[in-house]
Amino acid sequence: MRLFILGFMGSGKSKLGKKVAHHLELPFFDLDQLIEEKEGKTITRIFEEIGEDGFRLIEQTALESLINQHSDFVLSTGGGTPCFFNNMDLMNEVGKTIYLKLHANILFGRLKSAQVKRPLIANLTEEELKLFIEQKLLERESYYSKAQLIADAPNLTANKILSLI
Ligand code: S3P
Repeated sequence: MRLFILGFMGSGKSKLGKKVAHHLELPFFDLDQLIEEKEGKTITRIFEEIGEDGFRLIEQTALESLINQHSDFVLSTGGGTPCFFNNMDLMNEVGKTIYLKLHANILFGRLKSAQVKRPLIANLTEEELKLFIEQKLLERESYYSKAQLIADAPNLTANKILSLI
């Protein structure tokens, strides 16, 4: 099984993805980490050098090559992965998709202390960050909501995800 974990930055994709993979005895991958390893650079550096458009191309390629190489895994995607190219349709075609849905206020609480490594929000003031989350979440909801499963809970556990699958 290929299980794709989707959601906004700060929704807990990697932490929960790892636990779910462990329970399912499947290999775990994190798309940002795969990209950093392949490129030999941090996500921040990639954004600095080739901008978001360049990053999205690399991200699409990394997603496709993982799918082509493996048929069993849990993948934590990047927050924007489902919203570019045909990534969302592709993930739905080749595996199960689950959206970790969290309210903007909760995401704000989590992201204000975790901005540094995330180039899209790194330089925003708290006020700007709040607005950014609200706007982007609204914009991305139409992609996220194409997920086959929606885990609509702030206190999500790996067991709850397992019961949904
Ligand atoms: C992004 C989210 C990041 C990373 C990049 C862009 C986004 O991943 O892919 O900084 O567009 O939301 P996380 O969701 O793991 O922070």
